[in-house]
Amino acid sequence: MTVETTTHAEQILRRLGIEAENHGAFDGSWIATSGERIVSLNPATGEPLAAVRTASVEDYERVAESATAAFRAWRTWPAPKRGEVVRQLGLELRRHKEDLGALVTLEVGKIKTEGLGEVQEMIDMCDLAVGMSRQLYGKTMHSERPSHRMYEQWHPLGPVGIITAFNFPVAVWAWNAAVAAVCGDSMIWKPSSETPLTALAVTRIAARVLAANDAPPVFNLILADRTVGKEMTADRRVPLISATGSVTMGRAIGKAVSERLGRSLLELGGNNGVIITEKADLDLALRAVLFAAFGTAGQRCTTARRLFLQKGIAAEMKQRLIQAVRSIPVGDPMQDDVLMGPLVNQRAVDDMMQAIETIREQGGTLLTGGGRLDRPGFFVEPTVVEATPHMPITCEETFAPILYVFEFDELDEAIEIHNSVPQGLSSAIFTLDLREAERFLAATGSDCGIANVNIATSGAEIGGAFGGEKETGGGREAGSDAWKIYMRRQTNTVNWGTEMPLAQGVEFDVEA
Ligand code: UN1
Repeated sequence: MTVETTTHAEQILRRLGIEAENHGAFDGSWIATSGERIVSLNPATGEPLAAVRTASVEDYERVAESATAAFRAWRTWPAPKRGEVVRQLGLELRRHKEDLGALVTLEVGKIKTEGLGEVQEMIDMCDLAVGMSRQLYGKTMHSERPSHRMYEQWHPLGPVGIITAFNFPVAVWAWNAAVAAVCGDSMIWKPSSETPLTALAVTRIAARVLAANDAPPVFNLILADRTVGKEMTADRRVPLISATGSVTMGRAIGKAVSERLGRSLLELGGNNGVIITEKADLDLALRAVLFAAFGTAGQRCTTARRLFLQKGIAAEMKQRLIQAVRSIPVGDPMQDDVLMGPLVNQRAVDDMMQAIETIREQGGTLLTGGGRLDRPGFFVEPTVVEATPHMPITCEETFAPILYVFEFDELDEAIEIHNSVPQGLSSAIFTLDLREAERFLAATGSDCGIANVNIATSGAEIGGAFGGEKETGGGREAGSDAWKIYMRRQTNTVNWGTEMPLAQGVEFDVEA
């Protein structure tokens, strides 16, 4: 690393208020945490960026109390006033977009444009949530009884626990936080311990916006290990836990939350497939698959991991794919011409190498890649594997840039194999044939929460509800009516007449 780059990183950290040593909990003020010292590394160099002390169960207790008190006050603010605070959060994020995006690059290893894109996703979420703050609609129903009015309304829910993963360290917080805030909820954010610095930076920005509006501290933070995570998921004061991460993690959280009959919103693993038929625009398909499979170094939950090629175009597409993959510039994600940065840490590299071994054992053929790069940082090669649906590893989500290629004869067969994995997040078909496209989108087509035509699996816009079926967990975040999970629904019946008729024609005439 050059002296210049070190200074650049230090400047970014300083501008975002990150010190060399930081506290890991915020409840309106920073709590002097004294747990394990986590050193956040730059995955492109393996060098430290800054350190954070994790929070204890006692610290959590303090944050939970504060979040509960903040909720009591915040729920009395009119929703459009809460929206105004979120509007200002969006403005502050715009002001810090360059630095925050660069910090995402430094801490996660995403290329620059993707780091910036992630911050843009937060800004978009704020804008969407501001609009929502005037559209938290309930319905009015016609009562079967005369002089009765029936309607439903949506009230704030309570403090929301937000657990986020390293790969979208700030956007996923915004999916939840912007919406939960306009819904009248306070929050406790537990970020991934891989990415504490981005969480600290965002919490500082959000806290400033709250303070400027004399708003209660609704955006709280707790950087902590699993013991504290368990405390939060079991906490009855926290009616909703929204968690993004692995299926294993989601299963444990789902169980703990359902044990107390709380609500969980789970956004877990994906194993996303792309089908390319003989009727596709192959140039378009190729470009789309390259980004979906190798963008973010294969570390999106929406990453394309399985590619289904129809026999007639399979040989040509494989050849073009291999050639293109070999030309992907891998390197320092801060550099403009680089398209693939490092994996997040050494364990991710080891897991990928382990997966490559398993692929070989299960009869897969490496068409290109499969190795690690001999340089500092956690770099690997973009990898393409010729696979068969019988290889068990193709049913797993390996969080790395490995693309499995399959061949098929008939579309029905491809859809069946596509749907045969345990996960159900995102999916895509490339075809110019209307019948094929509609077949894929029909009830008997893709079984995923997201199904696209002529665009690939990743890079969803925030306007639509995001999430997936089966082991992906069933949760939906961001757009559409996903706000409903952050609120409690109440049905109201008002009798404005002088009679007291009962529903369903029941009579109960007692002298009174
Ligand atoms: C994730 O990887 O957890 O659709 C989220 C996408 C992004 C979000 C990914 N908008 O790829």
